[in-house]
Amino acid sequence: MMNHQIKTFEEYKTAYQESVENPEGFWADIAESFTWRKKWDKVLEWNFEEPNIKWFQGGKLNITENCLDRHLKTRGNKLALIWEPNDPKERFVRYTYKELHEKVCQFANVLKNNGAKKGDRICIYMPMIPELAIAVLACARIGAIHSVVFAGFSASAMADRINDAQCSMVLTSDGLNRGAKQIPVKRVVDEALATCDSVQKVIVVERLGWAVNMVEGRDVWYHDEVQQVGKDCPAEEMDAEDMLFILYTSGSTGKPKGVVHTCGGYMVYAQYTFRNVFQYEESDIYWCTADIGWVTGHTYLLYGPLLSGATTVMFEGVPNYPDMGRFWQIVDKFGVSIFYTAPTAIRSLMGGDIDDVLSYSLDSLKVLGSVGEPINEEAWHWYHIHVGKERCPLVDTWWQTETGGIMISTLAGITPMKPSHAGLPLPGVQPILVDNEGNEIKENGVEGYLCMKFPWPGMIRTTYGDPERCRLSYFSTYKGLYFSGDGAKRDENGLYRIIGRVDDVINVSGHRFGTAEIEEAINHNEHVIESAVVGYPHDVKGQGIYAFVICKDVPENQEMLRAEIIETVVEKIGKIARPDKIQIVSGLPKTRSGKIMRRILRKVAEGDTSNLGDTSTLLDPAVVDEIKEGAL
Ligand code: PRX
Repeated sequence: MMNHQIKTFEEYKTAYQESVENPEGFWADIAESFTWRKKWDKVLEWNFEEPNIKWFQGGKLNITENCLDRHLKTRGNKLALIWEPNDPKERFVRYTYKELHEKVCQFANVLKNNGAKKGDRICIYMPMIPELAIAVLACARIGAIHSVVFAGFSASAMADRINDAQCSMVLTSDGLNRGAKQIPVKRVVDEALATCDSVQKVIVVERLGWAVNMVEGRDVWYHDEVQQVGKDCPAEEMDAEDMLFILYTSGSTGKPKGVVHTCGGYMVYAQYTFRNVFQYEESDIYWCTADIGWVTGHTYLLYGPLLSGATTVMFEGVPNYPDMGRFWQIVDKFGVSIFYTAPTAIRSLMGGDIDDVLSYSLDSLKVLGSVGEPINEEAWHWYHIHVGKERCPLVDTWWQTETGGIMISTLAGITPMKPSHAGLPLPGVQPILVDNEGNEIKENGVEGYLCMKFPWPGMIRTTYGDPERCRLSYFSTYKGLYFSGDGAKRDENGLYRIIGRVDDVINVSGHRFGTAEIEEAINHNEHVIESAVVGYPHDVKGQGIYAFVICKDVPENQEMLRAEIIETVVEKIGKIARPDKIQIVSGLPKTRSGKIMRRILRKVAEGDTSNLGDTSTLLDPAVVDEIKEGAL
């Protein structure tokens, strides 16, 4: 197994068995291939009760030395990053490993010059421009903890995340391009910072050349700062278990939580999974369409590929601008061989003219990937036939912000592939299905709640500033297990098929939102008394957001009211969390103890009111008829 890359199904089986029988030996062997300043003293210490998870304790390293420095000798002139702008007429940007190394060192020096140091939390709120990738690595270089906030989130959502992590710095840009639109990013930062006392400095990268408000003493332009620094920046020595980053994600209760990943384990896991799932080879051109604001962008646009010495493509724009062939044009332009995207993008492109795909050659493609939500069979086949020409293995990769990297997936061309199935677990991953009582269901051909019974190096360590929340969210539902929040099936051959969330989390276009979070936002609207939000099947987004809202005074023009409610959600969270349907109701189906019966609301939202089950325990059963009649 060269480079710990599995090449046959037999090798997979051997590796899997070894990873279960001797997990420490298995992962230590993989970890050996990285650059450590000092080797670890202990491979693994763990319990899932507190939880306490430590990998490669005592090991010293810097992840950027592994992403950049160690490649300089052998791959210095190889392309590390290809950046394609939103507008196809604008020139693309390419950096070799040598150039990227230099850019990262410069940015790191700018951070240091502006007071950043090891352990500081730095919020990055930037569009998909090369400086975003560089900024993330620059933080890691100096040991500052990056907290990337997707640039589609609102000022209020950003402020919550900055305050939770007490960030001392924000890295941003003047504005961003998105299809035909240009959006003022710095203005959103200014609005957020009105309520964030911890931030001392804001570094602004110029993208649009807009005149923006610069606060004296706080805000500086990157292009001015970079003039004042050198191109050398030695990497900070980090402990394997020092924090590398925080990434906020939604759960079923409360505000988004800051998922914490650490340096050593995450590094080992990101590279191992990248190489094996996509069967990466040195000459590949790899493109992951995810935004770096999400975990997929962290692990599989940035860290996984760079750790492997790969050429990674980064795209500023959207799939449908200037036309529906944009993705395929980029594939042909750069000769992309591995392409990783989300089902929602596939479903939206399926709606277009088939010639938008067929007019491109797509000859360079070897492997296709899918991530973020269940991929329905129709989308799977369309992707496999029209994009992959039935010759590219299609890997459906299941994982989560909390898992750090891919957990269950076909290894391209190596392990069994079945439409709409993620497949077998990766070596080192020990999934189990449990029933309502938490008992393991051992047979095949079953369905249950998806849990993990053993740690893996890329897993969540804690939730920032609130370890108890981590325990409650993932380790308390079933004793001694990590609970994913997903339901899954396991077929006769042991292949997993992910059904989706079983908690109050909605997956909209592959992005997670808690129903409670959206309800809280809706309730901020002055007309609203109470609301309940559920997900429903949506042709393109996977799940849509359906809100049932009780209002104080319902005006004649309900459309205006709906528009106002939507505006409130956009303000509190961002456009991505906009409800698709809002039904104004006079009451909600509640039990006598005041609990909303979401099961009924979900049925109504799905348009299936034939069998609502037992409604006799409701406080006011009549409210159900009204809701049924008014369904949208
Ligand atoms: O429900 C699962 C779904 O996305 C959730 C994780 O969301 P997030 O942390 O935002 O990470 C998304 C990218 C890794 C999971 O709990 N999910 C992710 N991948 C798949 C999936 N559902 C089905 N199939 C997948 N391949």
